[in-house]
Amino acid sequence: MNFEELIQNVYHKIKNIDDEGNLASYIPELKNVDSESFGVHISTIDNFNFGVGNCYEKFSIQSIAKVFALSLAYSILGEKLWERVKVEPSGTAFNSLIQLEVENGIPRNPFINAGTHVVSDILLSNLNNPKEDFLNFVKSLSNCSEICYSNRIATSEKNVGYRNVALCNFIKAFGNIKNKPSDVLDFYFNLCSLEMNCEELSKLFLFLANDGFTLEDNKQILSKSQAKRINALMQTCGFYDESGEFAFKVRLPGNSGVGGGIVAVHPKQYTIAVWSPKLNEKGNSYKGMRFLEEFTTKSELSIF
Ligand code: DON
Repeated sequence: MNFEELIQNVYHKIKNIDDEGNLASYIPELKNVDSESFGVHISTIDNFNFGVGNCYEKFSIQSIAKVFALSLAYSILGEKLWERVKVEPSGTAFNSLIQLEVENGIPRNPFINAGTHVVSDILLSNLNNPKEDFLNFVKSLSNCSEICYSNRIATSEKNVGYRNVALCNFIKAFGNIKNKPSDVLDFYFNLCSLEMNCEELSKLFLFLANDGFTLEDNKQILSKSQAKRINALMQTCGFYDESGEFAFKVRLPGNSGVGGGIVAVHPKQYTIAVWSPKLNEKGNSYKGMRFLEEFTTKSELSIF
């Protein structure tokens, strides 16, 4: 498979289409980005790396960081994790409160905001220096030393994060948050503020394409079965209330953030990260979705 030629072709085609998306505006700092940015980077498990466009420019990965948080919590708690968060698609927006009341504060899945509040709470209870330990975990997935939280983005979201404050307090009322909500929220806003570029993102996700082992130093992060389960969750829940659409059109497990990033995993083959900041009405990158649909169709590789 000549990924280089295929990515170049699809990139130039999608770059020129009308972008029907809009920048995320509910986190003020996310508007301070060049809305025309568009980058793509692929990393394969036989060590081929290729990127185009703004693939070396850092952006706010937002919800994509939820996959790293889940991976670390799963490696610590094992199957007991699923007593605190379920594994069903929600069919509702990523920041919805609606199911929590009738479902007794147990979030539908770890990728909606409610689920990541519970995952954050678990990390707070199990890490000595939660923010530092979590950042070191992320960096260790691919010897990426250049990755940081953005205080600017975290503070911007904290100032207006009323829905997250409501979600976290509501779950606390059901007893499914053990720490102080203010501490959980601080950790959550920081994890969402992580910044990296498409190259770093595709490399950091390789362990999920490689049975739970990092590619560079063959370190085991998750068991083979755990890695499969995270991929299954990304397939069914990674795009919130657009997860069915993404599976239908792109056919890969993946995850997306309101900074306009999308990462997708083809188990045993490759990871691919796309960044284009304008979002469709479900909060997923408009061009990112279009690029991946075209790329997976033209590559004719499929997990099905
Ligand atoms: O909590 C929020 O609303 C954001 N920090 C993250 C949401 C997000 O990225 C959902 N993705 N499309």
